[in-house]
Amino acid sequence: MPQPSFEELRADVARRIEEGLDEILSPKAQPGEAARPPRLVEAMRYVMLGGGKRLRPALLVGAARMFGAEGDGPLAAGLAIECVHGYSLAHDDLPAMDDDDLRRGRPTAHRAFDEATAILAGDALQTIAFETLAGERVHADAAVRVELVLTLARAAGLGGMAGGQMLDLAAEGRFDGADVRSEADIRRMQAMKTGALIEAAIEMGAILGGASPAARDALRRYARALGAAFQVADDLLDAEGATGTVGKKTGKDAAAGKATLVAVHGVDGARRRLEALTAEAIGALETFGEAAEPLRCAARFVAARDS
Ligand code: IPE
Ligand code: IPE
Ligand code: MG
Ligand code: MG
Ligand code: MG
Repeated sequence: MPQPSFEELRADVARRIEEGLDEILSPKAQPGEAARPPRLVEAMRYVMLGGGKRLRPALLVGAARMFGAEGDGPLAAGLAIECVHGYSLAHDDLPAMDDDDLRRGRPTAHRAFDEATAILAGDALQTIAFETLAGERVHADAAVRVELVLTLARAAGLGGMAGGQMLDLAAEGRFDGADVRSEADIRRMQAMKTGALIEAAIEMGAILGGASPAARDALRRYARALGAAFQVADDLLDAEGATGTVGKKTGKDAAAGKATLVAVHGVDGARRRLEALTAEAIGALETFGEAAEPLRCAARFVAARDS
């Protein structure tokens, strides 16, 4: 069967993810819920339904498909990871964190609503993510669902995204004695704040597809390189991109004193690193042949993206 390009896959997943978000973020209280406060639902829908590349669910669905897993399960798991991602962005933009006013070409959540509402929207997105992931739509076998919950929880938490966000802020020099300046420190911070969720997306796809331990190892190498590439590309977009295209205010990382590979190696050095990581990601897929073509395209997409 011919493989769809990553662009086709991403467009198809994006459409279905948006339908799924519309459903789980319904304003109507669900069985067992007393009420859904309209302002909170509205803010959650604002965070989740205003664009976004839907990269993580597309990677999850693409990885699952390599092992023959199709249908609703990977999509429902994709919804879960996208909600964690949306929560991470709403909180990342808060005045206490990156203090950004623009995201996806629109006011950030705390600008469109207020800080308390943006915090609560992030909180409730994180819990609805795990509620969705624990549901039977994801997989009939509860043991598989527990493995997925563990994978996403670890990736999002203390030793993953949230921990990486802590290190990112520490690197600005906000806290005494918490320096993150060496290249190794920066790589680790980025692997945590951004890489962990991207790695989890691919791992979750492999879990749903019942991939062998050897296949999972190879995919893990791919995912680690892809996650690192993704943040280098993000940092390059901040340094070189135009706000109108990127949809976020650019030039902010240097002004905030963010620790990035652009700060350490300059734009050319960071671009070389991006190219090396992209080649590494594609190289890790060698054993899979034609079946991995969408994931190879995903790596090229990450390197070439302009938003
Ligand atoms: C932005 O992620 C935040 C980072 C992890 C660098 P994306 O670039 O995937 O954001 P959207 O969802 O497409 O807007
Ligand atoms: C964000 O990194 C990582 C997470 C949201 C976890 P950035 O702070 O660079 O992301 P943008 O540039 O605001 O999207
Ligand atoms: Mg940040
Ligand atoms: Mg930010
Ligand atoms: Mg950034």
